[in-house]
Amino acid sequence: AVEKSLRPQTLQQYIGQDRVKNELRVYIKAALDRQEALDHVLLYGPPGLGKTTLALVIAHELNVNLRSTTGPSIEKAGDLVAILSELQAGDVLFIDEIHRLPKSIEEILYSAMEDFYIDIIVGQGSDAHAVHYPLPPFTLIGATTRAGQLSAPLRSRFGIVEHMNFYTEAELTTIIQRSAQVLAVVVSDEGAHELARRSRGTPRVANRLLKRVRDFAQVENQEQIDQKLAASSLDQLQVDDHGLDQTDRKLLTMMIELYQGGPLGLKTMAVNLGEEQETIEAVNEPYLLQQGFLKRTPRGRVVTPKAYEHLGIPFPKGE
Ligand code: ADE
Repeated sequence: AVEKSLRPQTLQQYIGQDRVKNELRVYIKAALDRQEALDHVLLYGPPGLGKTTLALVIAHELNVNLRSTTGPSIEKAGDLVAILSELQAGDVLFIDEIHRLPKSIEEILYSAMEDFYIDIIVGQGSDAHAVHYPLPPFTLIGATTRAGQLSAPLRSRFGIVEHMNFYTEAELTTIIQRSAQVLAVVVSDEGAHELARRSRGTPRVANRLLKRVRDFAQVENQEQIDQKLAASSLDQLQVDDHGLDQTDRKLLTMMIELYQGGPLGLKTMAVNLGEEQETIEAVNEPYLLQQGFLKRTPRGRVVTPKAYEHLGIPFPKGE
């Protein structure tokens, strides 16, 4: 229940992503005025930036029900049909990790999205026949970490495509102060800013770190989370002052020690860390690129001088 109340309900309460919000405000108002379903929306960007939250907000602003599922949990055509057949006119269907939908299921979505019907095969062998099944107009909201992971036919059926960006420190500070109120903990402005600085531009990380630091405050009998407590707790959690966690630092150190800083392919990075390639690509790499610790070249990823300096490793000069 707590987790839920940390989520804003309206565009007004939703902090940051101003460009996305301003566009959506127009499209939502226009759809409401025409009394039509909102066009399908694709949200893409790194995990934890509020894609699911935004889907909730959109449904709330449209005054419709939200049905929620994920790409990998839809295994059979019947799973999707069961969900689609429960939709009412104007409802939002949210599919997280939509890039992981099986291909055969994806194809059912094409007609559902474009013309609001599905053709399903019932019966077996010589009894098999297609049944035409009309659907009410609805809005599909798909979320994925990279738009490029979607097949072109699926991507082209979204009328509204929005890229989610990392949040600024100021935005994260506001989100942390709002969450602190919901959790009934006292955080000083400097404490909130210290948390924000180390939250890798990501509200989900900010809210998780806030809860952990709250535990430190409670056990150490501190009435408020100030800058000092935030900093010392986060040091213990091995979140450094650029927001890098152990995996980020392991990745950079490995690239330097084993590969002279690169260039390296994603696969080599994943194998050497014992992590999933998808995780490195979706979680670690975008933040390291954004912070200027990694750089992409045609031959692969390269560690920057800034990363050497951050890790306290001398940058090799000249050859
Ligand atoms: N909690 C998580 N993401 C948020 C956001 N963008 N605005 C407000 N609260 C949030």
